[in-house]
Amino acid sequence: MLLSDAVPQNVSTVLGVTHPFFYRIGIDDLWIERCIVYADYRDRFASIPYVTGSFKQKVNIPEAVLLLVAMSHMVIVCKLIPNGSLQKATCERLIFWAPLERIRQLSDVGYYPDSRMSMKDTANMVKRWKSIGDVPPVYPNGWFAVIESHKLPIKAVKNTHLLGMQLCVFRDENGEAHVIDAYCPHMGANLAVGGVVKGDCVECPFHAWRFRGEDGKCTHIPYAEKAPEVAKVKSWPVSEMNGFVHMWYHAEDLDPQWMIPEIETIASGQFVYRGRTEHHVNAHIEEIPENGADVAHLGHLHSPSITLGIDVDTIRKKYWDLGVQHNWDAQWEPLANPDKKHISTIKLKHKMTLFGIAVPILDLKVYAEQIGPGIVYMHWTSVLGSGIFQHYLTPEEPLEQKLVHNIYTDWRMPPFISKFFLMAEAIQVERDMSIWNNKKFISKPVLSKSKECSMISKHRRWYSQFYSENSPRLKFQKDTLDW
Ligand code: FES
Ligand SMILES: [Fe+2]
Repeated sequence: MLLSDAVPQNVSTVLGVTHPFFYRIGIDDLWIERCIVYADYRDRFASIPYVTGSFKQKVNIPEAVLLLVAMSHMVIVCKLIPNGSLQKATCERLIFWAPLERIRQLSDVGYYPDSRMSMKDTANMVKRWKSIGDVPPVYPNGWFAVIESHKLPIKAVKNTHLLGMQLCVFRDENGEAHVIDAYCPHMGANLAVGGVVKGDCVECPFHAWRFRGEDGKCTHIPYAEKAPEVAKVKSWPVSEMNGFVHMWYHAEDLDPQWMIPEIETIASGQFVYRGRTEHHVNAHIEEIPENGADVAHLGHLHSPSITLGIDVDTIRKKYWDLGVQHNWDAQWEPLANPDKKHISTIKLKHKMTLFGIAVPILDLKVYAEQIGPGIVYMHWTSVLGSGIFQHYLTPEEPLEQKLVHNIYTDWRMPPFISKFFLMAEAIQVERDMSIWNNKKFISKPVLSKSKECSMISKHRRWYSQFYSENSPRLKFQKDTLDW
């Protein structure tokens, strides 16, 4: 029997992914975030050392090998019970190539404690003391990533906190994903904590009122003939695209003004998932996309070799690595087409040199599209193959951002190379975090008369289209800023 025969039907159904050789499966309950099953390649990998045993262990790549060509991949041989669900999987023999999963919380990166303080205390102190500046509204209008599709199987209900709100995210029995406000209008229970899916509704855990995902209306009260008209929760417009569930936020409650484009290389299965990083940043949301237009910082903050690490206070002090240099050439501009004014582009070339001599193996050519305030797709090519970074930025609170990077690469690219690219990206992002977490937003920056500085002003004008009259502004309350 081919191993692919043993993959339960619901693997591809749940994820909507089919490919002759690869199945991407999400099995949170088994602690593996997302895997690629090399089912038909079993024999080829027969000689690779593998790990057998219970799936009830977290599969995580050890920190120590992160930079050694980013994460030797982990191979696990296991089996899925025929006709069983993913949750019932036990060991036998499917081979998983675990993607990279790197998560950094708010106080993990970008703070520099002295010897008497912990990282967390320092982060808390910086957050309380830093000057916030005259920040723009805190939640721009647009599509924001809510959850990866594979983390929301049919009938799943998840509680999430985004844009300062408690939200209930669920997938109904027809496979549609919904995002609704989490608090039940009856007596305030959280629908996502103990709520269950019934048809296209979620049923409240307190008194079993049911709310329809599509419009938020109460459709059923077990002890009343009819639900009152006002029994309703807010239902947010949803777009499920490129492996993510997104919600539309608009301060004036307008319907979506544009849609998220499909990434053809991912939809066709040519590019496959190789990992993700998740960072939590203490800054205003606009600081992060502005980094793309701030081409001048590339030649300084991002030029020291990635092997020197992320700490901005030491990357220029390690003389042993001065020979390696990252060189960047970048151009940011908004699209001229009025129907696509919510999109801007970045053309970027990266070259690496060693004592001034080019090392073309890590040269990258990037074409990135910033689509609205919270999504960037970075298409890149290199001599080692091509891929895409999906970059998702969603505010959790006014000055706290969740930043996720997913990497998909051509299926022929060995996973460890894909992971190396993702790690290189993560190191550069973490250098930015040292700046973002500690900086102030300057509404009227002092700019030089240079092409580089003019791009910043241009980006501010472009990004302002995502704010509207009722966009929420920061009500600053230092006393509540602890975490
Ligand atoms: S609180 Fe939800 S049904 Fe009563
Ligand atoms: Fe940067």
